Amino acid sequence: MTKTTNQQTEPAPAHVAIIMDGNGRWAKQRGLNRSAGHVEGVNTVRRITEAASKAGVKYLTLYAFSTENWNRPAEEVDALMHLIVLAIERETPDLIRNNVRLTMIGDFERMPREAYDRLKQCMADTGHCTGLVLCLALSYSSRWEITEACRRIAEAAARGDIDPEAITPETISGNLTTAAMPDPDLLIRTGGDMRVSNFLLWQIAYAEIYVTPVFWPDFTEEMFMKAINEYKSRERRFGLTSEQITNQ
Ligand code: IPE
Ligand code: IPE
Ligand code: MG
Repeated sequence: MTKTTNQQTEPAPAHVAIIMDGNGRWAKQRGLNRSAGHVEGVNTVRRITEAASKAGVKYLTLYAFSTENWNRPAEEVDALMHLIVLAIERETPDLIRNNVRLTMIGDFERMPREAYDRLKQCMADTGHCTGLVLCLALSYSSRWEITEACRRIAEAAARGDIDPEAITPETISGNLTTAAMPDPDLLIRTGGDMRVSNFLLWQIAYAEIYVTPVFWPDFTEEMFMKAINEYKSRERRFGLTSEQITNQ
């Protein structure tokens, strides 16, 4: 359901999460190898990071590499990890200039040392930035994250530090890798597939979902703004009735 709104005055979503999909198909369409699509995808990351800052978004979480993606051909995984190192090296000065702080979520123990070190360095170098928080989901899956959270809470209970009766949804949220961020307001998926692929399953409970058939390398600032404006036109009810929302 949509609402009658003035899109100029509606607030931007505080947290936008994006499943950046379609790099491989983009490359295949052009007779290139899949990695060429990932290279082009990095340019889209730069473009959309700037667009999100400009639009007033506070947190931008990008699904860059899933736990399941480790099972892709070694050649593609290596190319992606190498690309991450290069991109972070190249983009850090611009992130600082644009006041963007980098964070990451995921199972970094599986990352190659060089990529991990480079990301840690970029997080330290942008640690003072107060603008957009750019969160890269790398070696991330929601089931991995929820499993880890359960283990931590169970250990705390076994030690007697937490009473099982006192476990609330906030306890779970607080033990996820996203504990420092609000839940996503808007989830965008490029590449047209209508699924969430193990991304932020707990956190997207009430996110507005926007799927575009456009492949990630072709995703433009205008398309991003179209998603933001679509979000602004949606009525978020959080289980209440439309009348309750209007009278709040
Ligand atoms: C998304 O593009 C990027 C990653 C998963 C790393 P894909 O590589 O999944 O591209 P398609 O979906 O095969 O086109
Ligand atoms: C989702 O894309 C993961 C990322 C964008 C990093 P996939 O291409 O891995 O997802 P599936 O396999 O189509 O579900
Ligand atoms: Mg894909």
